[in-house]
Amino acid sequence: MATTAKSGAKIAAKSSSVSISTPSKTGKMEDSEFHKFFVDELKDIYWAEKHLVKALPKMVKAATNPELANAFQKHTEETNTHIGTLERVFQLLDEKVQAKKCDAMEGLLKEADSIIADTDAGTQIRDAGLILAAQKVEHYEIATYGTLVVFAGNMGHTKVAELLQFTLDNEKATDVALTQVAEGFINQQAAAE
Ligand SMILES: [Fe+2]
Ligand SMILES: [Fe+2]
Repeated sequence: MATTAKSGAKIAAKSSSVSISTPSKTGKMEDSEFHKFFVDELKDIYWAEKHLVKALPKMVKAATNPELANAFQKHTEETNTHIGTLERVFQLLDEKVQAKKCDAMEGLLKEADSIIADTDAGTQIRDAGLILAAQKVEHYEIATYGTLVVFAGNMGHTKVAELLQFTLDNEKATDVALTQVAEGFINQQAAAE
């Protein structure tokens, strides 16, 4: 939640002096300050996805619940697709494929590492912590892609908006799947009582 608010504030701060629909002096949207801002944010989420795909296998290994391990495994493959989609987006925009460090994702992944370090293997507490960490990551991605889809649409990049929407839908589906695993935990506990 805090991450989403931070991300929103960052966007608001950066975009306060520019307008989505105002082209540059040359009249070309590609040269506008907003276009540069948009590409910068694509670089940011590209870095985030590339780091997430390295962290997810650790989460697969750390998970005890097979459904949770499967969800992480599935999302590792999907995250590779998200990386490929972003590379296609850079191509469509005629921009260099480049990553720019995303402090938010770095922090979220550090948090996931701490959860693994601070909990014992094979415990439900570790699985619960992993779900929490993973859902924070998904919500960060949902916030980012949600905004980028709107920006792409506003700038007339219809194909880019479509591609990013596809990733957005997948992040949302992952979040729902993780919630279902969490609900399964509660049902197991209820059955044990
Ligand atoms: Fe992703
Ligand atoms: Fe994701």
